[in-house]
Amino acid sequence: MNRPLIDIKGVYHAYQTEDGPLPVLNGLDVSVPEGGFVAVVGPSGCGKSTLTRLIAGLMKPDAGEMWLHGERVTSPRSTVGMAFQNPVLLEWRSILKNVMLPLEIVPTKLTKSEQEERARRLLALVGLEGFEDKRPSELSGGMRQRASLCRALIHQPDVLILDEPFGALDAFTREDLWQTMHALKAEEPFTGVMITHDLRESIFLADQVVVLSGRPARTQYVMDVPTDGRRKLDDLYTPDAAERLNILRHQIEIAQGRSPVETEAA
Ligand SMILES: Nc1ncnc2c1ncn2[C@@H]1O[C@H](COP(=O)(O)OP(=O)(O)OP(=O)(O)O)[C@@H](O)[C@H]1O
Ligand SMILES: [Mg+2]
Repeated sequence: MNRPLIDIKGVYHAYQTEDGPLPVLNGLDVSVPEGGFVAVVGPSGCGKSTLTRLIAGLMKPDAGEMWLHGERVTSPRSTVGMAFQNPVLLEWRSILKNVMLPLEIVPTKLTKSEQEERARRLLALVGLEGFEDKRPSELSGGMRQRASLCRALIHQPDVLILDEPFGALDAFTREDLWQTMHALKAEEPFTGVMITHDLRESIFLADQVVVLSGRPARTQYVMDVPTDGRRKLDDLYTPDAAERLNILRHQIEIAQGRSPVETEAA
């Protein structure tokens, strides 16, 4: 089957509110091949987090199709890993035990010692070797987010969903985490969807950027970001990157209703 690993077609969804139905997604198409990494950007409140809930199977769309691995998504998926802006780590567990938490919920073939070995390996990959026995409050915000990425990947999910994962971090820490993401992907290949407000982040991390329109969101614009090998921060200061950022910024203005110019082709 040639279907992409994530295939979202013509999704429509409305929340039922006291004031009546609130259409949030209307004509959303997103498709992510196995091993692909798609960044989703769009105006605040347009429906990005709603999209992540639909992919995770936490909600059903009112209409349209959601496919994961060739199967219709109809119920919560344990094969999804998620990380959010504010990592929720359990203070009464060590960092190592926090990372291992999903393995207590999702069935695994790994023995206890293999599970621990895997958690330690992931923590070392993100630069947290030596912090395994610390409590979450003993770590900086950036370190907690690194641990939360390890936890999202520990059960080798089919799909990694990141909802503004670096939004609460300062600019330098965020750039460190971008490089960590590339290191993680090289060692632990995953298929990912990342929501972000940061256009530089989107072109540095993703191989495709999807711009959503204002609410109700539809897929307004899609930009492929080709890469030949590992990206470097310097790549963000090239004329090619400046051109891409300019196009995306313009698309966001259109999505916000701040530009009269029609959507252009990629
Ligand atoms: N459970 C809910 N019930 C009713 N309305 C909701 C619910 N969740 C979200 N909404 C509304 O749906 C719209 C989209 O919300 P969503 O959180 O998906 O937006 P978003 O694009 O992630 O926004 P942001 O960029 O600010 O994170 C908003 O207007 C929000 O008020
Ligand atoms: Mg959101």
